[in-house]
Amino acid sequence: MLFMNVETSEKSKPTVRKRADAIRDFRCKNLIAVIEDPVDIRNIGTVIRNVNALGVEKVYVIDPRRSLPDDWQDMRERKSLSKTSVSAVKWTFVKRFDSTEDCLDHLEKHGYFSVVTSPHVKGKTNVYLHEGDFTQYTKLAVWFGNEKRGISDIAVNRSEACVAIPMFGMIESLNLGTSSGIVLYEVAKQRRDYQSRYRRGRKKGKRSEPLPNIMPREES
Ligand SMILES: C[S@@+](CC[C@H](N)C(=O)[O-])C[C@H]1O[C@@H](n2cnc3c(N)ncnc32)[C@H](O)[C@@H]1O
Repeated sequence: MLFMNVETSEKSKPTVRKRADAIRDFRCKNLIAVIEDPVDIRNIGTVIRNVNALGVEKVYVIDPRRSLPDDWQDMRERKSLSKTSVSAVKWTFVKRFDSTEDCLDHLEKHGYFSVVTSPHVKGKTNVYLHEGDFTQYTKLAVWFGNEKRGISDIAVNRSEACVAIPMFGMIESLNLGTSSGIVLYEVAKQRRDYQSRYRRGRKKGKRSEPLPNIMPREES
């Protein structure tokens, strides 16, 4: 058994490296998902999985209960996170903060603008997901609220807009995992498309040829 494991991991290394190289250019630069005070570890794991799968750059977690370790390396070894994120935590950087204010201070200091998400109308500017332009800020943080209370007023007041997925049913909201998947899919799709057509930073401007904005699918 031991020999089989060693062999399998030896064989899989180049494949993993190849995949990591192939996805690099498709990752959305300067896009962070923030989860504010999540209680259920399964939701934290699902958001990390969504972030990884959709090519978002990183995850910030507001964790006032101190349920996560401070260091990402320690998070990577935490079984509950590895299991709920199906190992995505090994590949996606996660940073924890003690409070919403600490996280907003950190984001703003590094030039990030925030948008919050809620099924309800909050703050001054409200947009439906399909109507939003998520390419206007070079650095963007997309916030998701607590399972019961939703997004805090502090986050709403320091954000540019509140984004809603239109709801058509009798229930008030979607759960955290589902809503983060839907919102991040749209935001990442728009930003990947923009990234493929325009350069940012010092070489700013339209590319003569757009880069591919979709990964070729592999045969199983
Ligand atoms: C279970 S919901 C929280 C419900 C809570 N009662 C509220 O007032 O928002 C958890 C989070 O998922 C996101 N969410 C759920 N439904 C959404 C929707 N229709 N549009 C945008 N975000 C949504 C929000 O970030 C929300 O804070």
